[in-house]
Amino acid sequence: MIDQIHTVRDGALHRLAAATSSDDVRAVELEVLGKKGALTDLKAGLGKLATIEEKKEAGRALNDAATQVADALQLRLGEFRRAERAVQLEAERVDLTEVMRRPGRGHAHVVTQAWQRLEDVFVGLGFQVAEGPDVETDWYNFEALNMPANHPARSMHDTFYVEHGTPGSTVLRTHTSPVQIRVMQDVPPPIYMIMPGRVFRNETTDATHLAVFHQLEGLVIDRGITLADLAGTIEAFTRAFFGEGFTSRLRPSYFPFTEPSAEFDIRTPSGEWLELGGCGMVHPNVLRAGGLDPEEWSGFAFGFGIDRMAKERHGIGDVREMYSNDIRFIEQF
Ligand code: DAH
Repeated sequence: MIDQIHTVRDGALHRLAAATSSDDVRAVELEVLGKKGALTDLKAGLGKLATIEEKKEAGRALNDAATQVADALQLRLGEFRRAERAVQLEAERVDLTEVMRRPGRGHAHVVTQAWQRLEDVFVGLGFQVAEGPDVETDWYNFEALNMPANHPARSMHDTFYVEHGTPGSTVLRTHTSPVQIRVMQDVPPPIYMIMPGRVFRNETTDATHLAVFHQLEGLVIDRGITLADLAGTIEAFTRAFFGEGFTSRLRPSYFPFTEPSAEFDIRTPSGEWLELGGCGMVHPNVLRAGGLDPEEWSGFAFGFGIDRMAKERHGIGDVREMYSNDIRFIEQF
């Protein structure tokens, strides 16, 4: 009996030492210590022993064996539990440094910033802000601005046409000037208005040209407005937007919607002249298209590119850079 007990015990301890998982350990527990386990069976056989002395001895050996097996079993189980828990923890691991790497706070795009600053400057000079539609009729975009069909100036506006209505009647506006007409139709004079917005030209892009860009249009309509008011407004705007070291000049030019027409340049503190935009006294035909009597009202208009302003203000070499959406570029402004 004692030998049998030791054989079962040694076999169990051996199996426990060789176990590779907690399942192996549980199998040994069941087969040795369980209800129908080997040691349990032997215990049941104690009664068949002849003497009290033998029963006592075998009983002690059984208890010792059971304790040894149970202790070894708990030890191995503990080892496997720790290993299995380590595997589980690794699988469920959360990298807290990853949570801390929050995305930085964003800001308005460099062109949006220029747009907002320009609005601020003109609002400071007493202007109101209006906007018109991106998709325009040929009439608002050209005809009402004194550019009838076949007018040579139209060839300077490479136009995107929209398939709507009679062919050629609907365009993506090529400039913000059509909003002048809409404002004249909607608002009784005096008018002191700026009209920023997106414009479109069917052109190949390069370092200074985009097919989709932004302009800011200005319109003043009042009684007795002269070219001096236009020059003074451009000068006030130049100093307010670029700084006191800057000044402006008008150069004779031609636009169908103004007469006389001029281009305006600014002079940087280093003495360099930069061409900024066009302007002039609103043509009588344009006033009439807007529903105003040229005998009663006069005014001036101007227009320039917003993207261009951002480019000059920040010394950006290539306008396309501003729309490449490269975060390393965008973040600089
Ligand atoms: N609309 C012109 C363009 O896109 C710019 C312009 C010139 C606007 C003269 C004006 C103006 O209001 O008076 O090239």
